Amino acid sequence: MNEKSKDFKNLKFFIHTFGCQMNNNDSEHIAGILNSHGANPSDSLEESDLIVINTCAVREKSEDKLYSLLGRLNALRKKKGKNFTIGVVGCVAQLHRSKLLEKMPHIDFILGPDNYWQIPEIIPNLLEEKIISTEWSKDWHEIPAAQTLRSSKVSAFVTIMEGCNNFCAYCIVPYTRGREKCRPAPQILSEILELAHNGYKEIQLLGQNVNSYIDPNSKMGFMELLREVNAIEGIDWIRFITSHPKNFSTDIATAMKKSEKVCHQLHLPVQSGSTSVLHRMNRGYSREEYLKTIKNLRRLMPDISLSTDIIVGFPGESDKEFQETMSLLEEVRYTNIFSFRYSPRPLTKAEKNKSDVPLAVKKARLMAVQNLQKNIQIETNQTLVGRTIKVLCTGKSKKNQDIYSGRNEGYRVINFSSEKEVVDQFVDVRITSYGPYSLRGHTL
Ligand code: 5AD
Ligand code: SF4
Repeated sequence: MNEKSKDFKNLKFFIHTFGCQMNNNDSEHIAGILNSHGANPSDSLEESDLIVINTCAVREKSEDKLYSLLGRLNALRKKKGKNFTIGVVGCVAQLHRSKLLEKMPHIDFILGPDNYWQIPEIIPNLLEEKIISTEWSKDWHEIPAAQTLRSSKVSAFVTIMEGCNNFCAYCIVPYTRGREKCRPAPQILSEILELAHNGYKEIQLLGQNVNSYIDPNSKMGFMELLREVNAIEGIDWIRFITSHPKNFSTDIATAMKKSEKVCHQLHLPVQSGSTSVLHRMNRGYSREEYLKTIKNLRRLMPDISLSTDIIVGFPGESDKEFQETMSLLEEVRYTNIFSFRYSPRPLTKAEKNKSDVPLAVKKARLMAVQNLQKNIQIETNQTLVGRTIKVLCTGKSKKNQDIYSGRNEGYRVINFSSEKEVVDQFVDVRITSYGPYSLRGHTL
């Protein structure tokens, strides 16, 4: 063993996470594994000995941000000497593998999203030699829940499945996260029981495609799983992400309504309001089918809060097709949206399509979508002033330490003042004012 590995137990590590909730949850697993082997988390990049970058490949921009961070780390490494280890993990690691090392030779290890469970095995070598591990396996590899270092004490993400079989024409995920594989239900349920026992109040079930969950042994489906989680005492709020509109049946909507702890809130990515674009995207539903699902959800749960993802400028998107996305936003009136300019990604079907929409058009369309949605949110948030809303307080506002922050059942951000310390508690907040992206108020 060299100097570095002998000192592993006293190492300080820093994890930088790009991308989605799945990545955030993976980083909590990685932090837990490292911590259980004696290393300690640090919030300073400069003071750390081990840097792990958990990467996102969904859009080119997030990949570019990785390269600029790696550039900064190279400079830091020169300053700190050889006792500085850099690992790149996640989707970009999986996508480029050894090519990443050729491009950035100062990386010490590369792990794909399916390889974190190997960290305990490779830890002894991790600091001695360059390691690349990006093999996929068909089986679910359990990372012990006790090894997860969670950032919240009250709200927890719990992975129920991984990967995707859908191959939407723009999306790199099936190539970076592999095919769908589901976590056995007993493991999911025992992790949630343990979380409830430790005082967690909110559970967010995670997966690229949660509606197609099926227990590999008992064949229990998503609806049954939801009912089982609903029966766990101590948990108050259950959410799940991400659902696919083509799999979102009336049965699931009914199970949502019947399970009283399941929040009346749903993220249902539409991507485009145009049936022809949806067809080219290989999404498996039309505008009309999507709107029917929304209507059904609102019939069953009139108070449901909906959010979505939108891509503008998909290859060949005409003005008329784009206007259909605008009119869909006006029709659905989401609580919140995540909107993106289409970004061509390697290996995907759409990348080969040369009829790209000019950048200036993409930019203008994105701005139009965001302005429209901003106005919708202002209009809706206005109607909530004067109401009293139940909020799960998750911390203090980043900008002002006298202000608390949390979310309501509909997953709206609520910033509020309180005479008492209320972090990690449910509180009733009277709404006094609003902005497009959050509500403001004070506790009763
Ligand atoms: N370009 C732009 N946005 C994309 N997304 C996925 N792939 C791309 C891409 N190539 C968006 C989708 C998805 C969200 C996670 O990221 O809207 O739902
Ligand atoms: Fe990507 Fe489509 Fe799978 Fe979602 S459903 S992860 S957008 S391929």
